[in-house]
Amino acid sequence: MTKRIGILTSGGDCAGLNAVIRAVVHSANIRGWEVVGILDGTHGLLQKPPQYKVLDPNEFDGNVMRMGGTLLGTTNKGNPFDFPMPDGTKKDRSDEIVAGFKELNLDAVVTIGGDGSFAILKKLAEKGGINMVGIPKTIDNDIGKTETSVGFDTAVSVATEALDRLQPTAASHDRVMVLEVMGRDAGHIALHAGIAGGADVILIPEISYKMEKVAKKIKDVMEGGRNFALVVVSEALKTEKGEKFEVTYSGGEKRYGGIGNYVGARIAELTGAETRVTVLGHVQRGSSPTYNDRLLASAFGVKAVDLIAEGKFGRMVAWQHRTVVDVAIEDAIAAYQDVDPNDTLVKTAKLLGISFGED
Ligand code: F6P
Repeated sequence: MTKRIGILTSGGDCAGLNAVIRAVVHSANIRGWEVVGILDGTHGLLQKPPQYKVLDPNEFDGNVMRMGGTLLGTTNKGNPFDFPMPDGTKKDRSDEIVAGFKELNLDAVVTIGGDGSFAILKKLAEKGGINMVGIPKTIDNDIGKTETSVGFDTAVSVATEALDRLQPTAASHDRVMVLEVMGRDAGHIALHAGIAGGADVILIPEISYKMEKVAKKIKDVMEGGRNFALVVVSEALKTEKGEKFEVTYSGGEKRYGGIGNYVGARIAELTGAETRVTVLGHVQRGSSPTYNDRLLASAFGVKAVDLIAEGKFGRMVAWQHRTVVDVAIEDAIAAYQDVDPNDTLVKTAKLLGISFGED
């Protein structure tokens, strides 16, 4: 029987989403199945008629894999169970989404998302009896039960390259360069890029710090004969008093940003060193995927179609011990993965002399 499967991207974009879509399209096509791309995440299903396009395998060549963003569009706003209406009220629109799914006559749907999206999509799938398979993507790498997610490797590469580019200016001007990176509540990007980019200090929300210790490390570096220092700060780091650098926007949406400026100002105050701050922001999400993200995306896309062929639903594909496996979506959501202070990379960093600003 010919199957018709849907695919959608949900949550913030990242590099590698188009590579996932391409893998699903080709792997379904080999089985003689049709793939329907749902536009703008679940928002496409709220439109009348639902917004989608049939994905032609001939249009999914290698160039699609190289492209950043998502050809399908996405959204990280508007929980359908608590949807913000133009008059400021909230409404449960989940029935409309389920009706949209049904109208497309899909045998199954592949959802590409992070833990927040999966929690919503799982609820929708249960409500509507929809056969769903999930593929993990997020630059934050905070989804449980998988060692890595699509988009993380590229974000780390961009952050590492930023340190590579900051270093010559730091050395030329005798400066301390502070780089603030994304990652939401998890410090994975800062930890990985900090080691790979030769940082002297890495500050992440999972490890408490003291600015005096950070300042001491920088002074030690300078007194040891080096004329510059590199510091990486994770966006969710709190101030020494425990305050978050978080702004709440209308509709209740919260966004991090700005802790790098606080850290930079404190370093200048405590060390007297000329200090500059770079907030890397969305450049970590938008580039062409690294080869690792292309491989991961391809393996995940193929595995998701395998699961549909086996009739295994409510599963998320995952990367564990050098292979692709599948896990229950609820287990992945429950096992939120931030940085373990005993992580092998934390130990690696410490034994390289990198400071976390600890006592
Ligand atoms: O979850 C991915 C992420 O890029 C976080 O690292 C960051 O805090 C957030 O999304 C930014 O969201 P937005 O694109 O809505 O500004």
